[in-house]
Amino acid sequence: MALRPLIAGNWKMNLDRETAAGLARELAGAVAAAAAFEMAVCPPAPYLIPVADAIAGSPVGLGAQDCHAAANGAHTGDVAAPMLTDVGCTYVIVGHSERRADHGETDAVVRAKAEAARSVGLVPIVCVGETEAQRDAGETLDVVGRQVAGSIPDGLDGTTLVVAYEPVWAIGTGRTPTVDDVAAVHAHIRAALARKSADAAGIRILYGGSVKPSNASELLAVANVDGALVGGASLKAADFLAIARAV
Ligand code: G3P
Repeated sequence: MALRPLIAGNWKMNLDRETAAGLARELAGAVAAAAAFEMAVCPPAPYLIPVADAIAGSPVGLGAQDCHAAANGAHTGDVAAPMLTDVGCTYVIVGHSERRADHGETDAVVRAKAEAARSVGLVPIVCVGETEAQRDAGETLDVVGRQVAGSIPDGLDGTTLVVAYEPVWAIGTGRTPTVDDVAAVHAHIRAALARKSADAAGIRILYGGSVKPSNASELLAVANVDGALVGGASLKAADFLAIARAV
């Protein structure tokens, strides 16, 4: 991997205030600034501030799990990108398959969110990935290519956006694609990014979906895999650190 890998933890709708801050403190105490990887954690919105306090002064970065496309206004229950920078976020996940499925988010919505994030200096982690039915129908590359084309803003450079390939059928299931399949999809994403950016080679493409300590080193060694977006295994400090140290 030529790019410094990003190991991001998506805590989803888990933990409570105390356990979130405790996990963050443990990670902050364990990661050195000179580590070969960059680490970020994405807690539920109510815990962003206690987690920001827990990682203050450490190299662990803070990310949110979603943002609205508007900077403010009448959007009950939503969170705006400027609010996330205000509480110390560097990253925001957008277009996770759970948001696409639970909230009907289209590629256009995801792209608007990514643009809103970038406009305030937040780095969006834009998620793409096929369902099991799409995979079985042999549509993986088409689906992912369409999502990249539709969800990702044009004219970006490598420091302002991250892509995460998360096959929906691999999320929380313990199943992962073969390394050859991961390589093929990541190469396809890189090529799709090249149609949008002169700096496609500088954009990190993470793999997500049942990453754990036992499979991290083989997944992270695949060409064009520049880190991981980790769900379940990011809820335990020892497992998440083991994944990061597998880079
Ligand atoms: O965003 C991370 C994610 O969807 C993967 O979850 O639990 O399979 O690592 P998990």
